[in-house]
Amino acid sequence: MAEREQGLKPDTINTHINNVYPALAMLAGMQLEVFSALGDEALTAAEAAARLDVQPAKLQPLLYALVTAGLLAVADGRFANTAEAAEFLVKGRPRYIGGAHSAYSDLWSSTMHTAQSIRTGVPQARHDFSQMSQAELSAFIRGLDAGAGATARRLDKTFDMKRFRHLLDAGGGSGGLAIALAKLCPDLRASVAELPNVATVTRECVAESGLGERVDVVEADLVAAPPPGAYDAVVLRSVLQVLSPAQAAAALRHAVAALAPGGECFVVGRMLDDSRLAPLDAVAVNVMFLNVYEAGQAWTESEYRGWFEQAGLSGNTRTPLAGGYSIMHGVKG
Ligand SMILES: C[S@@+](CC[C@H](N)C(=O)[O-])C[C@H]1O[C@@H](n2cnc3c(N)ncnc32)[C@H](O)[C@@H]1O
Repeated sequence: MAEREQGLKPDTINTHINNVYPALAMLAGMQLEVFSALGDEALTAAEAAARLDVQPAKLQPLLYALVTAGLLAVADGRFANTAEAAEFLVKGRPRYIGGAHSAYSDLWSSTMHTAQSIRTGVPQARHDFSQMSQAELSAFIRGLDAGAGATARRLDKTFDMKRFRHLLDAGGGSGGLAIALAKLCPDLRASVAELPNVATVTRECVAESGLGERVDVVEADLVAAPPPGAYDAVVLRSVLQVLSPAQAAAALRHAVAALAPGGECFVVGRMLDDSRLAPLDAVAVNVMFLNVYEAGQAWTESEYRGWFEQAGLSGNTRTPLAGGYSIMHGVKG
């Protein structure tokens, strides 16, 4: 037991209590499109409020909170984006990720149920992709789009995805990864495999991208059977972490069954070191997962390696990314 110290202060506790607000201020800024309204300009609270059609008295505290959160700067009463906000939170910029607010608002409100999920043993904000309404699915899946685009750029940078002819984005959600890869690799064809009700949203997103000639959507339940088609690369992003270990092993085996010999498999997701104490973002996100998935979580590197070997993949390597994500890469023998 920790020794009782005289004069001990609740510093760690207070830090956690107060750290919630900068994240929520950022979320509100993304939802209101504050960063897009500022663009490259420096505006007063009244000018920004007029652009956003909101009351200046309500907006002003948020603007100052965003300054202390490191996303805005203020000088002479005028607010401007920091370099980071200008790069990632202004709509229309190539690396825009502000649209992810619908996923964050869903996942963070889900995490408010953690104690009850543990008490009852039942995820209190369960995301069952085969049962969710089209509106819920659309908001959630489209919110993952920006992250999927960032993963596509990283995959191409590290593994040169232009080598492939036909890639499967298995459990691809909005198809954001397949669409971004098709943009980066002009000769690549991509298919997105999804559960039938999610595939409806995927088809809308592919149509909106204007890349329908090179990106198609196939309906598949990866846990039940291999998806149709034959591919030289398969990517599963944030898929195995929504499944139980037995389902994850089956989904990977089925995805790999659709690979030609010598084909390459990329699994991207929140992955823990075997210590279960790092990376910190993956440890933290498991608290959210227990509210939304029946048995899904950030699995350990050894668990991933076991599934890769069972699926007949070899030369398996892990590349850690930011945010608690890793890429596991293997080749079909
Ligand atoms: C967290 S989302 C990730 C979506 C996308 N890969 C991304 O990174 O944006 C998990 C996805 O896995 C899909 N999925 C879950 N179980 C599946 C199954 N049995 N067969 C096919 N897809 C499945 C869901 O429909 C959902 O789109």
